[in-house]
Amino acid sequence: MDAREAFEIGGQGHVFAFWDELDDRKKSSLLGQAEEIDLAELETLVSNLVKGDNIESEVDYRAFRPAPYEPIPDDLNKDQKWVYAKEIGEEALRGGRVAAFTVAGGQGTRLGYDAPKGTFPITPIANKTLFQVFAEKIRASRDRFDSQLPWYIMTSHANHEATESFFRKHKFFDLGEETVKFFRQGRMPAVDFDGRILMESKGKIAMSPDGHGGALRALDRGGALAEMVSKGIDLLSYFQVDNPHVQVADPYFLGFHIQSGSEMSSKMLPKAYEKEKLGHFCLNGDRLEVVEYSDIPDELTSKRDESGNLLFIAGSVAIHVVSVPFIQKIVEEDSPISLPFHKVVKKIACVDGSGASKELDAPNGVKFEMFVFDALPFAKNPVIVETTRLGDFSPVKNTIGVDSADSCRKDQQKLFASWLAHEGVRLELGEDGIPLNRIEISPLFGYDKGSFCDSWKARKPSVDFSKDVYIA
Ligand code: UTP
Repeated sequence: MDAREAFEIGGQGHVFAFWDELDDRKKSSLLGQAEEIDLAELETLVSNLVKGDNIESEVDYRAFRPAPYEPIPDDLNKDQKWVYAKEIGEEALRGGRVAAFTVAGGQGTRLGYDAPKGTFPITPIANKTLFQVFAEKIRASRDRFDSQLPWYIMTSHANHEATESFFRKHKFFDLGEETVKFFRQGRMPAVDFDGRILMESKGKIAMSPDGHGGALRALDRGGALAEMVSKGIDLLSYFQVDNPHVQVADPYFLGFHIQSGSEMSSKMLPKAYEKEKLGHFCLNGDRLEVVEYSDIPDELTSKRDESGNLLFIAGSVAIHVVSVPFIQKIVEEDSPISLPFHKVVKKIACVDGSGASKELDAPNGVKFEMFVFDALPFAKNPVIVETTRLGDFSPVKNTIGVDSADSCRKDQQKLFASWLAHEGVRLELGEDGIPLNRIEISPLFGYDKGSFCDSWKARKPSVDFSKDVYIA
């Protein structure tokens, strides 16, 4: 049976409605897209998530309990458990067991920036891009631990070429071209609320990236997994492209993961307030799960202990360590583990039955995405490790307000001021805790508190803090 027949039988024949109007190139590209689609899988998704009862909403959350986590001590250097975890993590870095992994395939619609998000300028003075910040942190970590620390970056069909050429233009930020690897994630067709595939144009199906959970199968398909195994890499330090605060390969976190014999571990932040829009770490029986803020009932988010503290306090910041053998187990043929798809309701650019572009003033369809944290319930011995907001999390999602470029630049300066304060430098701060003169510290000078303090003591730079300061 050819693709056109299969789509007709599957109730999606309209995908080829304009077939006779297409030239040969467009016909072959449309056929290529059609072949990527698993019609049986799509039918199930439509009936479960779009038309029928949404199985996601059937979960009974009342039995969920807060997940335990490893609390962060006031002084990391004085807590034996943390000191030991750090030693183990550093040993893994020195031994070349770790790769950095960035998911950068998202569409970044909220930011409204018309280029791969990683190319967005984000630092307060030097205006370095997100990719440059990560690149410099990786370089600095390599130097500190004499480690290979290769960098894998997941792109999408839409931004792959632009991402690669950005790195080429910037000479891979001196990381060595052979140590930075890009691979595309998979994609899924978008459908309307009746489950009909949406057409972006007469000869093009509206396809969108299959979510950050698509990373696991994309690592396999793109050959990255096999390459890691051949290089002796068994630990992936996973982070998102929108968060320049992240510690790209945190020895403490790696150490806790290794020590516990964990297959997948996550960092957590205590929520700043009851309704903060973070996923919640919960125990469902003995399974660790992340429940999205949009799914968790108020009844749970508002629960407090006798002292008035929120019980479901642990928020997910999308920072994980994932063991390579665990990913292999998930992606192998006939694996009993598969990540579910979720529906994401969005405005999706498309044409109508006559081939004319539709005006959209409200969401008109559904995208299907997998979430990486859905792998957690399948992981053996998962650990959750607390982190600090400034030390690991200030994402750039929106154009203004919360989680915007502006809030992130302010957070960077608060963080740098806190490192300087630790070395006895008191900057003049405004009411909001942000230094009155702008300050930026290059990751090549210090990429976390420990590396910064070591550099500061060793180099004793003479700095005039009465004006804007960039320490490199
Ligand atoms: P977000 O959930 O913020 O989605 O992604 P997004 O597509 O980037 O942004 P919006 O919602 O359209 O504004 C969180 C992280 O997951 C990656 C993103 O690149 C970001 O690092 N991601 C998301 C992927 O790699 N692939 C996807 O399909 C979705």
